[in-house]
Amino acid sequence: MSLRNAWYIACTSSALKRRTRAVTLFSTPLVLWRDASGVAHAFEDRCPHRSAPLSQGFVKDGCLVCPYHGWSFGDDGKCTHIPALGTDGAIPASARTRTYPVMEQQGYVWVWPGEAEPTVQPFQFPHLDESGWLTFRMSTRFESSVEACLENFLDCPHTATVHRGWFRNPDTREVEATVRRHADGVDVTFADEPITDSLVSRLLYPKGLPLRHTDRFIMPNVSRVDYEFGPRHHYIITSHAVPITDSQTQVFTVITFRHGNIGWLMRLMFEPMSRRIIQQDVDILKKHGDNVRRLGSERQTHLETDLVGSHMQLLRRRAERGDSTPLEESSKTVRIRF
Ligand code: FES
Ligand SMILES: [Fe+2]
Repeated sequence: MSLRNAWYIACTSSALKRRTRAVTLFSTPLVLWRDASGVAHAFEDRCPHRSAPLSQGFVKDGCLVCPYHGWSFGDDGKCTHIPALGTDGAIPASARTRTYPVMEQQGYVWVWPGEAEPTVQPFQFPHLDESGWLTFRMSTRFESSVEACLENFLDCPHTATVHRGWFRNPDTREVEATVRRHADGVDVTFADEPITDSLVSRLLYPKGLPLRHTDRFIMPNVSRVDYEFGPRHHYIITSHAVPITDSQTQVFTVITFRHGNIGWLMRLMFEPMSRRIIQQDVDILKKHGDNVRRLGSERQTHLETDLVGSHMQLLRRRAERGDSTPLEESSKTVRIRF
């Protein structure tokens, strides 16, 4: 699979109404629109006549109409009507725009930007809309690459500096982490992780229950973090990172959780706190991204305590090359302080 041959979230279903919507995926401008039955479509945002942006057009009689000379396009991307053509005029076969496969699932509009036909279903966010679970969603723009975002979401050591006092503290402890890389991602489990004092632990963590913490990278663009305290208290933060360009990423985050019988009360604190914490990551990743742009390239030094980064890069590079040769699973236990 090339990294393009996957489903990416283009927007939430509720954000695509009767008006057209412009989005960019992999530096390619797209227009999203709904036909008369409400079915969503994605076209390249370029009219085949003079390259006007179709996203500035409108939908009429179930067709997308270009704002410049009024050519209309059906859901297969073919031009159906050219106002300037006389009765003898024929619509040329080249009067069509590129279409992309679209699906709607779990309240999102998903687009397949690859050349190959879709072979899989979109990613399923865990427990989203399941009874007994509460949910909130966030959509956040990062001025950084997909990999920098995903590594950040799965990186424990930065929490003691970037989220100091909010999520963790510099008062670090040594923890045993087992990192397992497989064909579709990386799983990290932490043994006997102590709970350090922070705003999050004071407000959200139930007292006296042991924490089970798992971090996962799921190919090609998802991070999932679980904090579990027995069967009734469980927080899951799942982020789907979408490349707008090489250095801009839109991240769709779903937070699903249960907290005994007072989940709704927890949500009142959890949601604003999560937004504050993600803004701290937006800020540090902007600084990081600006510096990489200023220097022209990124220098990296991988430590064994950078648990996920090098594995994620290996898996994504293989996918980019279309390399499907079997990859040996690896498993390693390391000591890490955070
Ligand atoms: S540029 Fe679209 S109709 Fe002319
Ligand atoms: Fe962070």
